[in-house]
Amino acid sequence: MNKKITVLPGDGIGPEIVAEAIKVLNKVADQFGHSFEYTYVDIGGCSIDKYGVPITDEGMKLCKESDSVLLGAVGGPKWDNVDPSIRPEKALLAVRKELGLFANLRPTKLFPQLADASPLKQEIVGNGIDLLIVRELTGGVYFGQRKTEEVNGELVATDWMPYSEHEIERIGRVAFETAMKRGKKLASVDKANVLDTSRLWRKTMHRLSEEYPEVAYSDILVDNTAMQLIKNPTQFDVLVTENMFGDILSDEASMLTGSIGMMPSASLSEGTLGMYEPIHGSAPDIAGMNIANPLGTILSAAMMLRYSFDMAKEADAIEAAVNQVLDNGYRTGDIMQEGCKKVACNEMGDLVASYI
Ligand code: IPM
Ligand code: MG
Repeated sequence: MNKKITVLPGDGIGPEIVAEAIKVLNKVADQFGHSFEYTYVDIGGCSIDKYGVPITDEGMKLCKESDSVLLGAVGGPKWDNVDPSIRPEKALLAVRKELGLFANLRPTKLFPQLADASPLKQEIVGNGIDLLIVRELTGGVYFGQRKTEEVNGELVATDWMPYSEHEIERIGRVAFETAMKRGKKLASVDKANVLDTSRLWRKTMHRLSEEYPEVAYSDILVDNTAMQLIKNPTQFDVLVTENMFGDILSDEASMLTGSIGMMPSASLSEGTLGMYEPIHGSAPDIAGMNIANPLGTILSAAMMLRYSFDMAKEADAIEAAVNQVLDNGYRTGDIMQEGCKKVACNEMGDLVASYI
């Protein structure tokens, strides 16, 4: 198959980790007889520096016209004080919105080889953690109206958090369908004891749950979820939640896996177009040092093959290669353990590619 991939390396460690994922994709193309064609587009701070905007219209068009998008990371202290309307993160939100990427899948998997790297005790981690966060990505407070105005002589800021039934229903469907393919267990996370958006969320999820009698469904409040993720993470299979709760809970969950550098993600639309990125940020403190962990990005490339290109065997091959690298004791600094071999970012990419 011939596929067009738009590549958005972005800022900080973005270009380094993306280069390793491309290395692995090229090896897959070689081995399985595919051809991947890459178009590079600037996004985030590097685009602000060059063009005065975090993504150009032309760049956005290239994303829309491709078969899928691979992203590194955006942002950094250099652009912390730019006008909010052109912040690096704005481009990321714009791509999510314009490509209709409403479903964000964030698998949280503790590889058994990294059990020691998890801050949780062995008896809590059990035989490994394997849960999936399904985060709504194009609604809620991220995209509601916002304003800052003067009221009675002081500034008042407001961010609206709107959710419509159809937005809740379509993410709910993705979650139920995904649960059917996994452990058939779904917890919907909300704050229905306080928020109207959560009450509508819960009502809609309950209605959907009747269509999926095989899925063991439950509601759980977001504050309790934050606690349960640490207390008893293996109780969860699939979690579905709104945009901001999902942002916060997925960072928390990532630590269960030992390092945020291990976590991939897929942002999916109604069609096959998707965007794939590690869930971590641009890590400006280690940018350019060739020590970042590229595995989250490499595993994101595997998700691209699985979800956008329907290449399950190829995706399996990447995941098996990552497993083998870990089995053989190779580690980047963030997941380094006693008795293991410390490798650089590019060496990690070479190793994964060599095992494909
Ligand atoms: C994420 C990030 C983004 C988000 C930021 C960079 C806007 O934290 O993908 O989790 O909040 O969605
Ligand atoms: Mg986040």
